[in-house]
Amino acid sequence: MVWTSPALLALASAGHVAAQNLQSTPIMGWNSYNQLSCSPNNDKITTQINALASRAFVAAGYKFFQIDCGWASRDGLRNSTTGALKIDTNAFPNGLKPLSDLARSKGMKWTMYSDAGVRMCDPQLPSPVLGSLGHEAADAAFFKSLNTEYVKSDRFIDDNCYADGPAANQNAPKDPRTDFPTRMGTMWNELKKVGIPGMLICQWGTPYSSSSGLQGPAQWAKGISTSFRLSDDIASGWSNVFRIYNQAVHVAKSGLIGPGFIADADLLEVGNSDMTSDEQATHFAAWAMLKSALMISTDVSTLSNDLVAVLQNKDLIAINQDSAVKPISLVQRWTGDRDLWAGDLANGDVAVLVVDLSNAGRTLNVQLSSLGISSASIKDLWTGQTTTGSSLSKQVNAHGSQALRLSNIQRSTAAKPTYNYISASTGSLSSGANTQSCSGCSSSTKVGYLGGSNGGRVTISNIRTSQATQIVRFDYINGEVGYLGGGTNERIAAISVNGGAAKTVSFALSGYNWDRDVSKDYAVELSGFSTTGTNTITISGVGRAYAPDLDRIGVVA
Ligand SMILES: *[C@@H]1O[C@H](CO)[C@@H](O)[C@H](O)[C@H]1NC(C)=O
Repeated sequence: MVWTSPALLALASAGHVAAQNLQSTPIMGWNSYNQLSCSPNNDKITTQINALASRAFVAAGYKFFQIDCGWASRDGLRNSTTGALKIDTNAFPNGLKPLSDLARSKGMKWTMYSDAGVRMCDPQLPSPVLGSLGHEAADAAFFKSLNTEYVKSDRFIDDNCYADGPAANQNAPKDPRTDFPTRMGTMWNELKKVGIPGMLICQWGTPYSSSSGLQGPAQWAKGISTSFRLSDDIASGWSNVFRIYNQAVHVAKSGLIGPGFIADADLLEVGNSDMTSDEQATHFAAWAMLKSALMISTDVSTLSNDLVAVLQNKDLIAINQDSAVKPISLVQRWTGDRDLWAGDLANGDVAVLVVDLSNAGRTLNVQLSSLGISSASIKDLWTGQTTTGSSLSKQVNAHGSQALRLSNIQRSTAAKPTYNYISASTGSLSSGANTQSCSGCSSSTKVGYLGGSNGGRVTISNIRTSQATQIVRFDYINGEVGYLGGGTNERIAAISVNGGAAKTVSFALSGYNWDRDVSKDYAVELSGFSTTGTNTITISGVGRAYAPDLDRIGVVA
């Protein structure tokens, strides 16, 4: 009844608005981890806050300031008065409030890091640092007292994050668990109660074991966060960028990402070792267009002017912050040669990214017809130049990219080809390949065990088509998650038309559930078809590795 008073109503709603300053586009800011690991301290953090302001990163939009692991006390105790986590006063003798005040005085927003386990991740094993599990309310109140507006709630499984206790056997591996949503949801509820509107669930792209089978974080993190980590950690080097961007493929296609729900591809490695400047630029463009959070994680006080320019590219930032929050999708992969990604922007423009996969300097060509576009104004986001036409060629270095924004778009009027779909399970199977039931498959069955040490294969025959060279469509499942330290989040198939030389084709992760997570209509350019007689397509593996499981194949009628 008290809420019927207009004065109180106004007061309440004003307070509500102030508390719910929801960030619906990806956060942009700075995080300490890739520069400082779990060893931040007062002086180093002060330097970064000042440099972000003085080098115009804050003005460019990098506003969320985040200290990662290493801020909390190492004595295994909580604050005896509040029950909240304590600050490590060796690293931060004045506490964190002065740093929060400094960052906020420069126009930034303060954020905090915690962990949904018994112990926080730490390089020391077992971790001596407490996590937030069971103390979420006290920790949320403590974060709020620092004027926190966003919390990174870290994974509670890994080889140095103790999920259930400090003993060695409570240091859980990256296995699916049933308690991800309840643990993360508890922190989310407590943050909402104190008016902290943003939370990243940093569960490493590990699937949740639900009653209906494995679910990726894009599914289970929705409604209990504003953002989720789609992958394991990034690390230095191109292979980590490639691993994560392959894992982003199915998430981008899922339709689950949008304003207020961000797929976070992890911190940026721009400025750190082991990538060429071209690779760093491609990495940045990919993260920007995937609508990932853009969290710089390097020493910005010493960063080269060239890399400052990459990170402050206004056109890429505008695409990242586009109100539609629609990630680019992988349109087509020419395995070992190039990837073509594209995505719609709120005003009808289209963002395009073409990435060299040949790892050599070359001419990178974009044909807009591949996007169903006959002509457009094409802005090269690296040079700022705009041309009008139907294609763009550019010389790039190894793993370089074309990052484009198309406007004034003329859609192609050419009729799309008609496809005939053939269930892979109608093919002839050999060497261990078998059929399995598949509830997500159009044909209710799939073919598995293609490749492997037995060399399993399937040959589909009696295919008629009107095109000798064409884009064949594959509905496939690849649920093999690749983590840091080797995985690529792709499975490779060898595909041969009419017994000709096999083409090597990469199929990115399609999800986590081998019974359901089908990637539909994956485009693979194949040639060698007869347009008069019948054809065969044979699919097997490469080496002893497995190819993806196959639902069906679409061939141009
Ligand atoms: C415990 O919390 C109180 C209240 O926020 C604070 O003043 C005090 O400094 C904290 N003590 C430690 C050791 O963190």
